[in-house]
Amino acid sequence: MNKIKVLVTAGPTIEMIDPVRYISNFSSGKQGYHIAENFMQKGCDVTLVSGPVNLKCSDGIKLIKVKSAKQMLKECLNHLPSDIMIACAAVCDWKPATQLDSKLKKTEGQEKLTLEFEKNPDILHNIGHHKNSRPKVVIGFAAETNDLIENAQKKLLKKNCDAIFANDVSGSGVFGKDQTRLHLITKDLVEDCGNQSKEESASLVADKAISFLTK
Ligand code: CTP
Repeated sequence: MNKIKVLVTAGPTIEMIDPVRYISNFSSGKQGYHIAENFMQKGCDVTLVSGPVNLKCSDGIKLIKVKSAKQMLKECLNHLPSDIMIACAAVCDWKPATQLDSKLKKTEGQEKLTLEFEKNPDILHNIGHHKNSRPKVVIGFAAETNDLIENAQKKLLKKNCDAIFANDVSGSGVFGKDQTRLHLITKDLVEDCGNQSKEESASLVADKAISFLTK
């Protein structure tokens, strides 16, 4: 039997301002890496498209390292078809409208700097709505500081996902932590998965995705 093909995105993206500066976020990549490992342990053929993180993954995982959202989208599209897609990356929604070729210099008397940003591609939206090669199971995450369930339900529909795992990132949040509390949101249900380690939640995500595939 063919192995189940799984595509996972993980980590932050970084968007360059000039050759020495960028904007990004605090994503550690831990959740996505645990998910990739767990699918591999379950016998799947896993491709992990990862932004810059300080993590290692098993040799059995095909690791594609990227920096920007644009590169992440390109690699994800290059790795379709896939049976399952799990979008765990904290993709920067915005990138500097112009990426300077040389270092941005201060000018005499300058006290403020205004940067213009333009929208990055939405990777999960692209894959969820893919015309020819939408994976049978597409699962996203939602990082929310408020209205956790409502916002996650909106993302489920907008990005055409089979499920969203919603994460409350208010207060001290989950970035860089080993514990998490996910809520599973589908069209028919909302389920509090309780406090778990990111390893335990990775196993839950993989189990749910595989169960949707075989439904
Ligand atoms: N996502 C993505 N590409 C983007 C933005 C988000 O693939 N450019 C994916 C994330 O990997 C996650 C889901 O979309 O699976 C939701 O991401 P999140 O950051 O919670 O929300 P956004 O869609 O960016 O919306 P907002 O920032 O307005 O909450």
